[in-house]
Amino acid sequence: MTISTAQSHPNIAFIKYWGNRAAVLRLPVNGSISMNLDGLFTRTTVAFNSSANDSLVVNNRAETGKSLERVSSILDLVREMAKIKEKAEATSENNFPSGAGIASSAAAFAALALAASTAAGLNLSEAELSRLARRGSGSAARSIPTGFVEWQAGTSDADSFAFSIAPPEHWNLTDCVAVVNATHKKTGSTEGHAVAGTSPLQNARVADAPRRLELCRNALLNKDFEALAKIIELDSDMMHAVMLTSAPPLMYWQAATIGIFHAVREWRASGLPAAYTVDAGANVHVICLSEYAKTIQKRLSELPDVSEVLVAGVGGPARIVSASVT
Ligand code: PMV
Repeated sequence: MTISTAQSHPNIAFIKYWGNRAAVLRLPVNGSISMNLDGLFTRTTVAFNSSANDSLVVNNRAETGKSLERVSSILDLVREMAKIKEKAEATSENNFPSGAGIASSAAAFAALALAASTAAGLNLSEAELSRLARRGSGSAARSIPTGFVEWQAGTSDADSFAFSIAPPEHWNLTDCVAVVNATHKKTGSTEGHAVAGTSPLQNARVADAPRRLELCRNALLNKDFEALAKIIELDSDMMHAVMLTSAPPLMYWQAATIGIFHAVREWRASGLPAAYTVDAGANVHVICLSEYAKTIQKRLSELPDVSEVLVAGVGGPARIVSASVT
């Protein structure tokens, strides 16, 4: 049996995925676009062995219940593809807070898909890895390819995967993540996706998605910061409008979150290229041109209730760190 370690970055969605049309397969209702976050990573080791059950250790803590089941379901898919029966030991660590809207599940399932498939002797293509990662957490599909990434919604398991639209060196963007609440969120995105369709705003958000995807793709390819700023703020606000109006309503924002929105808009109006976007949490991702990252990090850290500001450039793909035969 081989043991394999993979590392992957979380990603921040510029055009968000919110809602599935097939929950088990995690086929999204709309396509999405993101940027991988350099410097932040999950590193996961998988070893298939003779133990009686799968096991999972995250940041030195043994996990059971739902988290282990979710990991086992990905291991089952790998076992099926590799035609093996062995159980596996998965060990994972993050260098950033998990479950706080910093896409820890994206990095986790991308690293798991790569480590597990490699340890099982499979040599999956990027699209196959992206599809496998998607089954653990939709946004994980986007942490497999490099740089700026688009996940095409697709119509079935076979064509719902992500691909790179530009490498990291294409554009020097930085994500300054203002951490206002590093504790684990109450409602995870899996439950959130399940109620997205109850919002009367969701159909309009989904119907308009191709337009926003095109605006975002063009802004990225043309390196047009003002256009990018407008579309990512609109898309984030639209997703949170859906969250706020679903049944039950989900309010991920804290007072500090909204304070940061106002500050970022004022900074931009006075000539500082910065724009906000928020995933399923209270923390605010402030996207800026890299030369302004230091200024923005300092300004964010001076705002009320900001406990920490994480800074990440554009990250590369999920990759194997080591693989060996035991
Ligand atoms: O991959 P999930 O199920 O954790 O969903 C991610 C949802 C958002 O982070 C809110 C948006 C996105 O596209 O990443």
